Amino acid sequence: MPILDQEPSKTEGDGDDLPKLPLPNLQDTLDIYLRCVKHLLTKEQFSRTQNIVKQFGVPGGEGELLQRKLVERREKTANWVYDFWLNDMYLNNRLALPVNSSPAMVFPQQNFRLPIDYLRFAAHLLSGVLEYKTLLDAHALPIDYAQGQLAGTPLCMEQYYRLFTSYRLPGPERDTLVAQESTVMPEPEHVIVACKNQFFVLDVVMNFRRLNERDLLTQLDKILKMAENEEERQPPIGLLTSNGRTEWAEARSFLMRESTNRDSLDMIERCLCLVCLDEASGPQLSDTTCAAMMLHGGGAAKNGGNRWYDKPMQFVVGADGCCGVVCEHSPFEGIVLVQCTEYLLKYMTGSPSKLVRAASLSELPAPRRLRWKFLPEIQKLISSSAEKLERLVKNLDMNVHKFYDYGKEFIKKQKMSPDAYVQVALQLAFYRCHGRPVSTYESASIRRFQQGRVDNIRSATPEALAFVKAMTEGKLSSGDTEKMELLQEAINAQTKYTILTITGKAIDNHLLGLREIAQEMKMEKPEIFKDEAYLISNQFILSTSQFPREPPDMFS
Ligand code: COA
Repeated sequence: MPILDQEPSKTEGDGDDLPKLPLPNLQDTLDIYLRCVKHLLTKEQFSRTQNIVKQFGVPGGEGELLQRKLVERREKTANWVYDFWLNDMYLNNRLALPVNSSPAMVFPQQNFRLPIDYLRFAAHLLSGVLEYKTLLDAHALPIDYAQGQLAGTPLCMEQYYRLFTSYRLPGPERDTLVAQESTVMPEPEHVIVACKNQFFVLDVVMNFRRLNERDLLTQLDKILKMAENEEERQPPIGLLTSNGRTEWAEARSFLMRESTNRDSLDMIERCLCLVCLDEASGPQLSDTTCAAMMLHGGGAAKNGGNRWYDKPMQFVVGADGCCGVVCEHSPFEGIVLVQCTEYLLKYMTGSPSKLVRAASLSELPAPRRLRWKFLPEIQKLISSSAEKLERLVKNLDMNVHKFYDYGKEFIKKQKMSPDAYVQVALQLAFYRCHGRPVSTYESASIRRFQQGRVDNIRSATPEALAFVKAMTEGKLSSGDTEKMELLQEAINAQTKYTILTITGKAIDNHLLGLREIAQEMKMEKPEIFKDEAYLISNQFILSTSQFPREPPDMFS
C-alpha cells in the first residue's frame, strides 16, 4: 500500500484545477500573532514575546530565510502545508484515538423489537454504503461548492475518496496513513463485521456482483450465530486499537510475528469499513449515552472491544437502537462524513427495507471468523488497553445539549454571522465560568485550495474579551447600547478572522510551516517556537467546530 502522508495520489475531482494554498506574508503573520496572544499573556510575557518576534522578523533574519524555503516548497508541491499539518494534527499524536481524536455521529434512535430487526437495519445501511461506494468508484460524486461566507467557489473533493480506502497504521513514533491502490482488476471487496468482540470477513462482492440487501442480511444472520458460539470465542483483540498509538504499535509488532495474525490484520486493514453489531449498552438511552457509546463503546465491559479504531469508517448498530458512526479523523474532515451519512440516511428513508427475514437457504459461502494466535505479551497488552479505555470512559464528562429557542435564521435577521455569534457566546460562557480568556480553536475549511484541509480561526479575539468583560464585570458604564456595540465589534472581528482563514491567510498553518521547515533544515529551533507564549497560544483549552447543517435527527 502506498504511503499517503507524503503526497496523496491524484484522482478525478481531487481539485487539480483549484488554486494552490497561498503562503501568507511573513510580517502579516507575525503582526496577527502578536495581536492574538497579547490579551492571553501577562505584560512581562508579552514584552518578551514582542522582542522575540521582532528578532525573528528582522530583514535578513531567520524568519525570512524560512519563508524563502516555504516559497520554494509551495512551488514544488500541490499544498505546501499538507504533510506538516497531517503529521502535526494527527499522525504524530500519541494519544488514544477514542475520545481524544475520533469523531462520531449519532443516528436517529431506532426501535428494534426483534434481533432480526437490528440485522435488517445493518443490512439496509450496508447496502446504502455499497451504493455510495459505487458512486465514489465511478467518480460520480457531485463537486461541493462553498456555502456561507464567500459562497459559491468549488471545493477540493479528494477527502471523499479516502472514506473507504484508507487505514491509519500505528507506528512507534509516528503513524502512517495508507491507502489501497486501485488496480485494473479490482480486489474482492469485503467489510469486517464486529460482533461480541469477534471479527468476521463479509465479502460484499461475489462473482463480480455486489451482494444485495437480502444477501447481506443472510450473511449478517450467519455472523450473529457464529459469534454466539462460545467455544470459538477469542479474546477482545480490538481493545488494542483503543490504546495509545505507541502502545498499539508495540502490540501490533508482537502480533505480526505470527502468520495467522498477519493474515487477519491484512484483512482488517484492506476492508471497506467495519460494521459493529453492538450489544444493548444498559442504561436508559439518551442523546448523551448514545454519543458516549459512539465515542468509546462504554469500555471493555460493554462494546469497547467491538471496535477497530484505525479504520476510518465504523458503523455501529446497537441491539438497543443506539446507532451511528465513529471515524478515524486523519483521512477526512467531519463535513465529508456528514455528507456521506446524509446520503445514507436519505437512502434508508427513501427506500424503506422490505425485508422481513433472511433468506432461509443461501448458496453464499459463510463469512469467515478472523483467527488470532495469542502470545503472553498480547494478553497483558489487552488487559492494559482495557484499563486505559476504562480511564478514558470515566474521565469523559459528556452532555449533549440541544438548543431550541432560536436558530441561525434569527441571527441572520440581526445581520450577524451565526457562526461568529455562537463563537462569541462560547467566549462569554467560558469567561463566566472561569473569569479568564483562553486560547481557542475553531476549525475552518480551506478546501477552496488544492488538497485543502483546515486552518484555525483564533476565536479568543481582543474584541470578544472586551465584550465578555462588559457583560460580566457589572461596570455601571456598560449600558445595553454599549454592550450591543461591543457584541457587534466582537462579531465583526470574528467574521474578519473567518474570512482570513478560509482564504488561506491565517497564521496557524503558516507558523507550523516555518517551525517544521526549520526542523527539516536541521536548524536549531527558532526562539519564537520555544517561547512560552507560543506554547500558551497552542494549548487550546476551548476547541470548537461547526457544520453548516446536519441531517435531521442526527448529531455529531
Ligand atoms: N448577516 C446576515 N447573514 C449572514 C451574515 C450577516 N452579517 N453573515 C453570514 N450570514 C449568513 C451566511 O450567508 C450563511 O447563509 P446561508 O444559511 O444561506 O448559507 C449563514 O449566515 C451562515 O454563515 P456563517 O455563520 O457566517 O458561517 P459559515 O456557514 O460561513 O461557516 C465556518 C463558517 C468557519 C464554520 C465555515 O467556513 C467552515 O469552514 N466550515 C467547515 C468547518 C470544518 O470543516 N470543520 C472541521 C470539522 S472536523
